[in-house]
Amino acid sequence: MEKKTKVIAFANNKGGSGKTTSCANIGYSLSVLGRKVLLLDGDMQLNLSLSFFPEDQVLEMAMGGKNLYQAIKKQEELTDYIVPTAYDNLDLIPSSTLMSGIEYELFTRWQREFILKRALKEIKESGQYDYILLDAPPTLGGWVMNILCASDYVVMPVEASPWGLFGVANMFDFLQDVHQLNAELKLLGIAVTKADGRKNYVRQTIEALKQTEGVHVFDQVIRIDSEVEWAQDDSKPILVHRKNSRSAGEYMELAKEIERDVSGNR
Ligand SMILES: Nc1ncnc2c1ncn2[C@@H]1O[C@H](COP(=O)(O)OP(=O)(O)OP(=O)(O)O)[C@@H](O)[C@H]1O
Ligand SMILES: [Mg+2]
Repeated sequence: MEKKTKVIAFANNKGGSGKTTSCANIGYSLSVLGRKVLLLDGDMQLNLSLSFFPEDQVLEMAMGGKNLYQAIKKQEELTDYIVPTAYDNLDLIPSSTLMSGIEYELFTRWQREFILKRALKEIKESGQYDYILLDAPPTLGGWVMNILCASDYVVMPVEASPWGLFGVANMFDFLQDVHQLNAELKLLGIAVTKADGRKNYVRQTIEALKQTEGVHVFDQVIRIDSEVEWAQDDSKPILVHRKNSRSAGEYMELAKEIERDVSGNR
């Protein structure tokens, strides 16, 4: 049977909505389930890289010749830019602070919305990964367009707060534009993150999102848990940092839900 790699972007223009935390922990959970996973850090903030490697190593990769920015600039396939993490089944393509200038790099290129898709072609076609997870920055420009044009699915983390909801409409409008170029892209669902279960507001937010036509909200909500920050401080996934924590369980369940959904078993 042909093995098909599924590319999933984590995107939302709202900053701090849980994109990187979700990408890292869902990626790790899938790897624990035995899937081969490649993570791509698409953000100059380097947060996804910092989720798995200590700061000095991340800066070394960011300033060296083998990071996402260098591959895009040199128009090379990303195959040679893959770095193994400390964990089985889980690899990473690191980012660079120079990604701040990526829009400028893309500007004059041929078919500039598909540069990342071309750079990932060899890896995707090799079928060596079950999943490639792309962590997007909190912007809506040519680079995020590239991320979404390289993806089969998008997961949209939304923070369960008043300002978290603000801007969701902008993202939906942007996805309409993406569909002109990548008609196959599917909004897999909204992942509600950083929810404080004690607040009525959170329940109302989730209900409001569920009322949005054509939008699926994942059943598994990720609640606020300070262990998430401790894990990040230690450059470890939450399941490694504290296996029995609430958020470790929630992220594992969300990963299973996402896998069910991409397999068409919703
Ligand atoms: N479940 C959680 N409980 C507590 N804190 C969380 C949780 N999820 C994320 N955070 C914290 O919220 C902040 C934002 O999360 P994260 O970096 O994942 O968001 P982001 O959408 O990737 O941000 P950016 O838009 O800057 O890329 C981080 O400081 C992270 O530690
Ligand atoms: Mg981020």
